[in-house]
Amino acid sequence: MTEPAATPPPGCPAHAGATPLYGPRFQTDPSQLYRELRAAHGPVAPVELAGGVPAWLVIGYRELQQVTGQPQLFGRDSSRWRAWATLPADWPLKPMMAPVPSILYAEGEEHVRRSRAVTDALAGIDPFELRKHAEEIADGLIDEFAGRGEADLVAEYAHRMPLLVLCRVLGLDEEQAPQLIAALLAMLDGGPDAPAGAQRLLELMLALVEEKAEHPGADVASRMLAHPAGLTHDEVMRDLRVLLIAGHQPSSYWISNTLRLMLTDERFAASLAGGRRSISQALNEALWEDTPTQIFAGRWAVRDTQVGGQRIGEGDMVLLGIAGANADPAVRQPDGRPAEGNRAHLSYSYGEHGCPFPAQEAAEVIATTAIEVLLDRLPDLRLAVAEHALVWRPSAWVRGLVALPVSFTPGHPA
Ligand code: HEM
Repeated sequence: MTEPAATPPPGCPAHAGATPLYGPRFQTDPSQLYRELRAAHGPVAPVELAGGVPAWLVIGYRELQQVTGQPQLFGRDSSRWRAWATLPADWPLKPMMAPVPSILYAEGEEHVRRSRAVTDALAGIDPFELRKHAEEIADGLIDEFAGRGEADLVAEYAHRMPLLVLCRVLGLDEEQAPQLIAALLAMLDGGPDAPAGAQRLLELMLALVEEKAEHPGADVASRMLAHPAGLTHDEVMRDLRVLLIAGHQPSSYWISNTLRLMLTDERFAASLAGGRRSISQALNEALWEDTPTQIFAGRWAVRDTQVGGQRIGEGDMVLLGIAGANADPAVRQPDGRPAEGNRAHLSYSYGEHGCPFPAQEAAEVIATTAIEVLLDRLPDLRLAVAEHALVWRPSAWVRGLVALPVSFTPGHPA
């Protein structure tokens, strides 16, 4: 049943020429859209989500730091949103934004407690072990298509590799991992199997927590359970779920967006042919130009305030326009590019809810290994379609390709 769209109350940003955050523009050239928004509204733009639901999009670099760096003004708990009561029951973004108890939506002392447990447990990952797991998993996936001479690097590689690595790091065994991946992907696809996938994911996470409480090991789940923060089993289960979801999607699109850049831009041709140095440059450039989490929801104004020249009302939704902030001319050189070697993008966000530092380090090991192993195994990798035929996902939230078809000289198992 489709209910009428929520009507923004008077004074809402939607009344001031709000731009829709859906539709084909995100599939074609979002950077042009951010330029237009900046020209029309400055660093904070009124936007409209599916169903005419109003929000603010922060696309200024400094303003994004202001919003994420002031939790006392911009809270993380989405139950602060004043639009909840007016939303249709079947509003499509509800599952993405509804407050569920976890590190993501916790604020203040509660967030500090959960964040310490998660951050310390991730900091316990041995980078050499991680690299070894990542290599094994990358080799195993490449074995499945190496003999064919062609592959879709999104579905067959980038979408699976980080998830398999994460499963191992969190503490799942070889048998549970495929079940968990099937459940998670069904949930994220949002199709008819999504509710069953979400339920199965919780069950598998609970089973993991119970198993590790009995038989602790050298894994993230066991370290969270043993942490002095004293998280309950339910809290550990919910935050492990966040780790899996928060880790999988951006890492997987980071890998495929970097591969696209390397396969289409001649500046990276040398690294395809065996040079190594520029893999890290390509990874960094992908975070500036095609950051996987292009818009993140979000923050909710704790009280009436102002940012970037806009008046934000208490309970308004403030979306983190990460791609827009990275494209802010204030942090670019006159030629529009970021300075060589500059890693000060906001792709991991900023402030106390930003991506935990050990998660960033782990993501970098996983993404670097994914690309190095692939180029070692398939040195003459090339795009199998014209560059303009590559299709981006029609999403304002993630920036990622639907598919990345490649061809190469058929190889042998590792
Ligand atoms: C091993 C892979 C990763 C793990 C385990 C991970 C984990 C997390 C966790 C637990 C949070 C929530 C932090 C909190 O609310 O206190 C988070 C937030 C976030 N992560 Fe990551 N992450 C990973 C990779 C990435 C990558 C590759 C990117 C993008 C390049 C990314 C971007 C973000 C962003 C934008 C946020 C939101 C921050 C905010 O609300 O301000 N993450 N991540």
